[in-house]
Amino acid sequence: MCGIVACVGYREVTPVLLNGLKRLEYRGYDSAGIAVRTADGTIAIRKSEGKLSKLVNQLNGSAPRGTLGMGHTRWATHGAPNDVNAHPHTDESGRVVVIHNGIIENYAELRLELKARGHVFQSQTDTEIFAHLVEEEFEKRGGEGAVNLLDAVRASLKRVRGAYSFVVMDARVPDLLIGARHFSPLIVGIGEGENLLASDIPALLEHTRRALVIEDGEVVALTSDVVRIYTLDGGSVEREPFEVTWDVTLAEKGGFATFFTKEIYEQPAALANALRGRVEPQRVALPELAGIDFDRVDRVHIVACGTSYHAGLAGKLALERWARVPVNVEVASEYRYASPVVNERTLMVLITQSGETADTLACFRLARERGAQTLALTNVVGSSITRGADAVIYLNVGPEIGVVATKTYTAQVALLELVALDWAIRRETVGEIKHELLQSFVRLPDLVQAIIGSDHQTEQLAKQVNRYRSAFFFGRGFGYVAALEGALKLKEVSYLHAEAYAAGELKHGPIAMLDPEIPVIAIATQSATLDKVVSNMQEVRARRAPVIAVATDGDTFIAEHADDVIYIPYAPEHLTPILAVVPLQLLSYHVAALRGCDIDQPRNLAKSVTVE
Ligand code: F6R
Repeated sequence: MCGIVACVGYREVTPVLLNGLKRLEYRGYDSAGIAVRTADGTIAIRKSEGKLSKLVNQLNGSAPRGTLGMGHTRWATHGAPNDVNAHPHTDESGRVVVIHNGIIENYAELRLELKARGHVFQSQTDTEIFAHLVEEEFEKRGGEGAVNLLDAVRASLKRVRGAYSFVVMDARVPDLLIGARHFSPLIVGIGEGENLLASDIPALLEHTRRALVIEDGEVVALTSDVVRIYTLDGGSVEREPFEVTWDVTLAEKGGFATFFTKEIYEQPAALANALRGRVEPQRVALPELAGIDFDRVDRVHIVACGTSYHAGLAGKLALERWARVPVNVEVASEYRYASPVVNERTLMVLITQSGETADTLACFRLARERGAQTLALTNVVGSSITRGADAVIYLNVGPEIGVVATKTYTAQVALLELVALDWAIRRETVGEIKHELLQSFVRLPDLVQAIIGSDHQTEQLAKQVNRYRSAFFFGRGFGYVAALEGALKLKEVSYLHAEAYAAGELKHGPIAMLDPEIPVIAIATQSATLDKVVSNMQEVRARRAPVIAVATDGDTFIAEHADDVIYIPYAPEHLTPILAVVPLQLLSYHVAALRGCDIDQPRNLAKSVTVE
């Protein structure tokens, strides 16, 4: 995820770009850059690795001057976060300038093709190829004129596959910005004597409240006083602007009250991004795993902390069930001091969204010292866990700003399960069921969307849960993972005491705690052990503890054993740690909101735990 802002108008554009980027920094902050067309008809580019403030300091006293420009704040996907890979990018003449949010899936083949025609690349990014493509197409059309530049951009867009929002400008066309969108957001701000483009409304609000949303497959051309939208084939599109009524602070969160809710609601898109290009009809496509010699592995140790540890538990169930390899899942802070048996036949899977958790990094070092192979799952490009790992799988869900993990967790589960399925396909330990399993991941974003669409269920329940002093969660198998994560969410954001148990463990002690004042949240979705979960629910009700079940749509029978039911769509069991957790994230939010908690920055927590 990256932030894009651009402006064509009458005023000095650098401050407009920097203010816009400040509002978009939540989208990525590993580098920032601007490009401005100056009075002498050339393009001045300034960019810097690190946060926007670093670029601002660099510009102090030497900001480029001009009225046409673009700016970008980056969340690296292709190429390390450094000065060279920071956007904007240009072709070799420096005339065509591009910023981009998204991933160009066929960039490797396009890069080879362009290199063969003599193009020279400066960065490792997928984005740079687009500047070279546009330059070629524009040259073919004579290299001048707004209409030709627009045609050149359209022709280039037809060559790229993947997700994008692009902004393009050219030193030879002084009053024109071109934007294009396919899956990544792009908004037009309509001003007086100036027009703007941005990834999100907050970047526009200081200049205008009149906005237009560009849809997938559209191209938009902006001059200082005209905005025209086209289809990729050149047909013109009519759209009325709308008036933004949001307050700036709210708008920074895209209209959500908290980043926590925003990130919960983003999960369908985040999962689609995490899975994009990785699930094919016959196989899993995770080229990242090429660095692992699977034949050498006779045991897997999954090591992580907190929510990432919960994702690891789901990974173990999938790996053992499908790939039939023995797996231990360990909390990193325990593992490192527990004399683990780890050697060159061990594959250590390290799960850390931040890539910087101290205990997980210590286990990583231990694995490398002992000659074990290492696979890292992280969301942060270039983070410590990625350095020296044999394989790295990026979550690709964009920055998670809320301190409490949401979309990174659901992506971790999905990707670990994909690793398990990939391995099972290699080992031929899954038969025809592989098609059904692959298909389940294709459907996953829509299933999550359906749950988010019925948030009213949890909003109502939150009023009840808020009355209690404590809550228990239980489940079995994949449902137990959901119970653990649901309990952690509730305590983190609402400070309500919550504990999770494997359902069968309840009667070995914790049942002594139950009374009418402690609700029990049972993960009772369709599974091979549902009957046993229902028996455990009956044991709970016999102690007069209220039961809230998370159950599968259409299961009317469950309502006879629960006081309340949260329904989620039917899905295979392995998706339970994702699908049953989404309503529990929402429930936690509503309880915390009723309690007036600081949901985005809960007390005592930090996004990245870099100390032991
Ligand atoms: C919970 C949460 C933490 C993290 C844990 C590990 O919402 O965010 O439990 O999961 O601190 O962090 P990473 O994944 O960055 O290693």
